[in-house]
Amino acid sequence: MRIVMVGSGYVGLVSGACFADFGHEVVCVDKAEEKITALNKGVMPIYEPGLDLLVGNNKAAGRLSFTTDLGPAVEAADVVFIAVGTPSRRGDGHADVSYVYAAAAEIAQSIKGFTVVVTKSTVPVGTGDEVERIIRETNPDADFAVVSNPEFLREGAAIDDFKRPDRIVIGLSDDRARAVMTEVYRPLYLNQSPLVFTGRRTSELIKYAANAFLAMKITFINEIADLCERVGADVQDVSRGIGLDGRIGAKFLHAGPGYGGSCFPKDTLALVKTAQDHDSPVRLIETTIAINDNRKRAMGRRVIAALGGDVRGKKIALLGLTFKPNTDDMRDSPAIAIAQTLQDSGAIVSGFDPEGMENARQLINIEFASGPYQAAEGASAVVLVTEWNQFRALDLSRLKSSMAAPVFVDLRNVYRAPEVEAHGFTYHGVGKAD
Ligand code: UDX
Repeated sequence: MRIVMVGSGYVGLVSGACFADFGHEVVCVDKAEEKITALNKGVMPIYEPGLDLLVGNNKAAGRLSFTTDLGPAVEAADVVFIAVGTPSRRGDGHADVSYVYAAAAEIAQSIKGFTVVVTKSTVPVGTGDEVERIIRETNPDADFAVVSNPEFLREGAAIDDFKRPDRIVIGLSDDRARAVMTEVYRPLYLNQSPLVFTGRRTSELIKYAANAFLAMKITFINEIADLCERVGADVQDVSRGIGLDGRIGAKFLHAGPGYGGSCFPKDTLALVKTAQDHDSPVRLIETTIAINDNRKRAMGRRVIAALGGDVRGKKIALLGLTFKPNTDDMRDSPAIAIAQTLQDSGAIVSGFDPEGMENARQLINIEFASGPYQAAEGASAVVLVTEWNQFRALDLSRLKSSMAAPVFVDLRNVYRAPEVEAHGFTYHGVGKAD
């Protein structure tokens, strides 16, 4: 299949490289000239484990190329994926689909022969209908079908998620498009990954419902964690105790500082807006958003409480700044709200992140250290914010030796209290009675 990926950001690049790896001929298009020039030189615009190798191998094999020139690529394509961004619209929280519509209009001008146009970007219900209308209006002679095929990729594990998906959701009503999409996903289909064919609007909603459910699941366990602290229970045991129930499932039950990232905050908000517009409010999700927003600052207050209530002039070290490990993504990371809350109370905040330092510099104004031990020098507390592997086996004696006071706040429950306390620290986990 000849595939064009419009938008070479996170989703477009990972999907394009994986499709090429399946043996398809893929052209990734992006308007940003510097991004395409860099990709042609083998420089990745994002950090994602394994992506540089995957891109390099498929480029060398002649199956993957990069261009700013959409027209010729679309003319030759069997399938064109739209994988441009759909950020939260400033002011009202609706998903901004203007980039999707602009891409649709541009694609329409170059369609030759039967072409399947697929929205891979996360788009509100009804966007596919509008894409179809735009293409028909721009090019009335075009022979095409519009399909919805949402992505379910986790940052840091995106290639694995693409190649071993729990399911592939495809929303369409056209038989020719169904045959094309089956061919596109043939290698996964042969691997027994379930293809869920459904209507286009249903497919669009599935993406939002999945992300909202996961955000709600995390928020649920975070509230239970707070309760555990009050009643003398242990949230990790609660997670295990409920997660072994097959109806609940063990995943996404890790209590922590609240969810962040590019998807959950944006998609939950967009779902709330769509639901309100259709007079069918999703109150569970409205509440989820409010709880999660509050929680991030509450984590800062938790650190202040761990230091006895006064942090003025004290140094506090944040270990991990990204919203989760194995990414350089700082979007909506709890570290931002935590740093601000601490600074608002007069603390001096230092921090270190293995991959996120560059992005963090754009968002927070803290002392950036060259490693975890450097960040902790002279600090009255270390706060483990993101569970990077390199923070899982810290030399606790070394850490403590340079600190002003031995307080360890573990917002990801990476450590067990006795092992940290054995080194002379006061330890505070999440959802555990102190
Ligand atoms: C998510 C979805 O998982 C993915 O399917 C979708 O396509 C995009 O959004 P991502 O944002 O990359 O992926 O990260 P994910 O691993 O889902 O984590 C999201 C946030 O939830 C992180 O801040 C993480 O720390 C937090 N989280 C996750 C928890 O606090 N507890 C958990 O048990 C799981």
